[in-house]
Order: sequence, then C-alpha cells, then structure tokens
Amino acid sequence: MMANQNSPEEATAQTPVNEANAEPAETKIGTNTVRVENVSRIYQVGTNEVAALSDLSIEIPKGVLAALKGRSGSGKTTLLNIIGGLDKPTRGEVYLFGRPLSQMAQEELTDIRRHQIGFVFQSFAIMPTFSAVENVELMLRIAGITADRRKMALRALEIVGLGPWADHRPWELSGGQQQRVAIARALSTHPDLILADEPTGELDSGTGRQIMALFRYIVDKEGITIVMATHDPMVEEYAHLVVDLADGRVKDVRHPQHS
Ligand SMILES: Nc1ncnc2c1ncn2[C@@H]1O[C@H](COP(=O)(O)OP(=O)(O)OP(=O)(O)O)[C@@H](O)[C@H]1O
Ligand SMILES: [Mg+2]
Repeated sequence: MMANQNSPEEATAQTPVNEANAEPAETKIGTNTVRVENVSRIYQVGTNEVAALSDLSIEIPKGVLAALKGRSGSGKTTLLNIIGGLDKPTRGEVYLFGRPLSQMAQEELTDIRRHQIGFVFQSFAIMPTFSAVENVELMLRIAGITADRRKMALRALEIVGLGPWADHRPWELSGGQQQRVAIARALSTHPDLILADEPTGELDSGTGRQIMALFRYIVDKEGITIVMATHDPMVEEYAHLVVDLADGRVKDVRHPQHS
C-alpha cells in the first residue's frame, strides 16, 4: 500500500462521523447558495403532461452537504439539472448565489457553470485513455484556465486522497477511485457548488460510504456547498440537510443530528 498515512483519504477514512459534524465555519445565516422558488417542470409526453416537479421550493445554505432523497421518478435529477442551469423550469424561479437564473444571458450561465459549479455523475464519465491527472487537467482546460493546470489538478487529486494515483489510468483504478477522479475534476476549478447525481449509485456500500465521507470532508474543509441526489439511507449520517422528494414535491426536510 503506497498511500501516505497523512493523506486526506486516510484522514477522511479515520474521522468518526460525529467528529466531522462541526458547523461549517463559513455558513452565514441568510446566505443561500441555492434558492428554488415555486418551481414546476412539466414534460409534454405525447398529449399527456408529466409533472416532474410541482410547485417545489427549497433553500440550501452555503457550506452544507445537502441530500435529495426520494424513490425513482420523484424528480431528483430534474431538480439538479434545473439548479445547474442545464434545464429550465416551466414555472417558478431559481436563485443561484442570490441571482435569478431566468434573468441571465446564456453566456453568463455558461460562465457560471464552468467556474462556479462542478458536476459529478453516477457513471463517473471520465476519459478512459487519460490518466487521473490528465482527466482533471482536461476540465481545467475546458474552463479556460491557462496557467498552472497541472498544479491545480494535482492539488484536487490530493484533496480526494489520490495524489499517489495521479498517473494511473482509469482501468488501473477501483470504482471508488474513479469516482474520486470525477470528484477531483469537479473540485479543480474551485467551484462554490458541486451537484452530484447518485454519485454512489454504482459503488458497493463500503465505497459509497467513503465517497459520502469525502463529500462531507470537502464541505467542511473547502467551504463548498454540495447537493447530491441519492437513494442511499447512509447519507443521513453525513448530510447537514436531507430533502425528501415524492412526486416532484418536498415531502420532508430534516437536519440529521449525527449522534
Ligand atoms: N425528458 C423527459 N421527458 C418526459 N418525462 C421525463 C423526462 N425526464 C424525466 N421525466 C419524468 O419526470 C419524473 C422525474 O424524473 P427524474 O429523472 O427527475 O427522477 P429521479 O428522482 O431522478 O429518478 P431516478 O432515481 O430513477 O434517477 C419522472 O416521472 C420521469 O418519468
Ligand atoms: Mg435521477
């Protein structure tokens, strides 16, 4: 085992959940990273209308790990896409960093997506022929970063505990390590917000737990806000905020105590 004993990976793995539960230092009351106001998203399927989201409102403060839970079809992906500006609500408004998305020009939205938001998907979506560090550098190139890409990429890999694996290709990495490359890629541009759609969906439960602990570590250490969609009950042990969705509506909002 080559891992450095003091790497964040080790620190994360060894941090008991209740110790990781300190209030994030940068959370200010009233500062919401995301505010969703009376949002509906209606899909037209033939002559039928399908309401993926119905008059849904939520607020996600800065510096928290928020989980969107709910069974298949409850609207989790639709909501993440709308928060990230990848889809538009049929009705209602989304405020990102205090600003209404509907008022933004396409260019501005693209700029925010590249610089202030990181996306993580269930299937990792990393390039199979690129090494870990090259995958992260590619994201920085797409974001238009011209200087210090290698240095920034290596730092992001270190945060996720993959420093020693920087030159490995995806097939030499486990599923959890590949997902951590995808998380490093999302982190590399120093976003304010990471949106993750079932990031543990393809992982075994032990590896899934490591990814959730890593998300919590990133939130607490880097002050980033993370919104993740998941089916996994384990998320209650890590999230500051859990939103239960059912039929495109908020069924329950909880602040788990991690006792
Ligand atoms: N492009 C689309 N066209 C028509 N209906 C859609 C479309 N995308 C989603 N829906 C519908 O909207 C609802 C919410 O879907 P969504 O993908 O947001 O659910 P989800 O909670 O992410 O589910 P899962 O856990 O399976 O990923 C579902 O009823 C779905 O069938
Ligand atoms: Mg989904």
